[in-house]
Amino acid sequence: MKPKIKTCISGLDEHMTGGIPQGHVVLISGMPGTMKSTVAYSILFNNAKKENKKGLYISLEQGRDSLLEHMAGLGMDHSEVDSLVNIVDMGYLRLNMDEEASDQQPWIEIFKMYAENLKANTDYEILVIDSLPVLEILSKMDDRREDLFYLFGWLRDLGATTFIVAEASDDTTIVFEEDFLADGIIRVKKERQGYDISRQIVIDKMRGTKHNTGYFTLLHDGKEFQLTRVIGE
Ligand SMILES: Nc1ncnc2c1ncn2[C@@H]1O[C@H](COP(=O)(O)OP(=O)(O)OP(=O)(O)O)[C@@H](O)[C@H]1O
Ligand SMILES: [Mg+2]
Repeated sequence: MKPKIKTCISGLDEHMTGGIPQGHVVLISGMPGTMKSTVAYSILFNNAKKENKKGLYISLEQGRDSLLEHMAGLGMDHSEVDSLVNIVDMGYLRLNMDEEASDQQPWIEIFKMYAENLKANTDYEILVIDSLPVLEILSKMDDRREDLFYLFGWLRDLGATTFIVAEASDDTTIVFEEDFLADGIIRVKKERQGYDISRQIVIDKMRGTKHNTGYFTLLHDGKEFQLTRVIGE
């Protein structure tokens, strides 16, 4: 069996026989504000802290300061892991790069160059791309299915385990092309319970490993995520 990468979310790894098979390309999908970026960053943060694993977070839109401030507010102080986790703020690069240079080299090539160079220099084991919709806009994809197929292939060749923050609808009948191409999908959704909104997490798909397909409540206690079984089920 392939070695596993843990999500380090208490309760979640146990539901997929110990974690995600190394080398997988996994979507973390959900509607806006479902804590997708937080889940993705927490995987890097906790793998650095608890497993001594190196990671890379490529943020295509949310700025580094905004991202790290949000994570610090949720008990994850980046200074604890900054020797192991690199953050590439491509939003900043986009704003500060002159148009001529970006005309000469397409954004998707700049993105790949960063991922490849840092892989060669730091040999990160876990990569987060935040997010797929923004990467698509930058890549000016003509044939979405074909272009995503090559992108996912390139990611598998890169040799890290990759988490891609993606969009999803709460309507499970809506399926995107990337859902077929990915090796795994971890979906976060909001659920109304009376006046309250709770977050739920479900493993829609995880190739090469036995996994639970049920819905779990995803709680955050200000320091870390925890899973509990959905009440009433
Ligand atoms: N201290 C906190 N405790 C719990 N939840 C919080 C806290 N601070 C912010 N949040 C929630 O986190 C959400 C944002 O988290 P995050 O940025 O990870 O979500 P996202 O799904 O990536 O959002 P987007 O779609 O905007 O990229 C906010 O909408 C808010 O509901
Ligand atoms: Mg986000």
